[in-house]
Amino acid sequence: MSDDVVRVGVIGVGYWGPNLLRNFNNLADAEATWAADLNSDRLRHIGNLYPSVRTTSDYRQILDDSDVDAVVVATPADTHCALACEILDAGKHVFIEKPMAVSSEECQTINAKAAEVGRQVMVGHTFLFNSAVYKIKQLIEAGELGQIFYVYINRVNLGLFREDCNVVWDLAPHDIAILNWLLDSVPRSLTAVGSSYVQPGIEDVAFVNLQYPDNVMAHLHVSWLDPNKVRTITVVGSKKMLVYDDVSNTEKLRVYDKGVNVMPHYDSFGEFQLSYRYGDIVLPRIEDTEPLKIEAEHFVECVRENKKPRSDGQSGFEVVEVLEAACASIREGGRIMGFEAPTRQS
Ligand SMILES: NC(=O)c1ccc[n+]([C@@H]2O[C@H](COP(=O)([O-])OP(=O)(O)OC[C@H]3O[C@@H](n4cnc5c(N)ncnc54)[C@H](O)[C@@H]3O)[C@@H](O)[C@H]2O)c1
Repeated sequence: MSDDVVRVGVIGVGYWGPNLLRNFNNLADAEATWAADLNSDRLRHIGNLYPSVRTTSDYRQILDDSDVDAVVVATPADTHCALACEILDAGKHVFIEKPMAVSSEECQTINAKAAEVGRQVMVGHTFLFNSAVYKIKQLIEAGELGQIFYVYINRVNLGLFREDCNVVWDLAPHDIAILNWLLDSVPRSLTAVGSSYVQPGIEDVAFVNLQYPDNVMAHLHVSWLDPNKVRTITVVGSKKMLVYDDVSNTEKLRVYDKGVNVMPHYDSFGEFQLSYRYGDIVLPRIEDTEPLKIEAEHFVECVRENKKPRSDGQSGFEVVEVLEAACASIREGGRIMGFEAPTRQS
């Protein structure tokens, strides 16, 4: 970096890329200097919105610009690995939208390349930068919920039907990233079922059951075929329970002081008793900051200070490994898929 400003190029300014470009451009210590896309209409649109951003249909122009420190990849997932490796080879840091790549092998290729050239890889697991999810993480770490028993997540609504991937690859990356981060671990096994009701061969609804260490169960329901838009996370702990409702405007997070106590001593089944606790419901205050702003700030900080990102390449790999296993389980009628004992770097 010639000065303290991190200069960023964005490859892919279709639906999502412009949101990233806007957020990087709005940071005091970063500047979006380039946008590349194969679609000239999208480039014209970006050029009109941001006259200071140079546009090109050839992303290699960005890689050849020695003033560019980092490149954002917001293209379809099957292009991520090749683009990320070229970016790293050009000596730039890379921010890759989720999912990191279309196979765990590709993720490993990217991570090996990043280690070889000594550059940062961050994956756009947006929900790890969502203030409500961050609050849940704080509550779990502070022991407020007690021992975590189980978590379930619903991410359903009508559409948007994609043709390039099934609903698991489209929606579950968010949830798996959230679960792995909240539970600070990766699943030991999973089983999944899914069906294609609308587009032959492309599952539009799936149910995934995951087993995490310490007997923590998790369940995901992802669907493009549902009457309601539901985005909820429920965490049940031994002390408290919580529900995060991403669709609610005013009550995103509710913490319930509810639970069940087992009497500590009993000699016979007749004496076995449970007491139910119905305490207060608390609505913690959640900062109203755009997650992408926090995400962009975090990437810039990691680039400047050579810090490991919260959603680094290893976490991107761990998410893709689960997506692959879930799809394999669906193909095999819900077979239980086990994972090797993970080797995680902290
Ligand atoms: N984090 C999130 O919440 C979130 C939300 C939506 C999408 N995404 C991710 O963002 C990525 C892009 O999704 P999208 O919905 O914006 O897709 P999109 O199809 O709307 O846009 C992708 C753009 O990339 C361009 N492109 C493809 N190959 C290119 C190349 N070689 N050089 C330059 N441009 C190229 C296309 O022309 C297109 O404009 C995907 O990985 C998707 O999963 C993340």
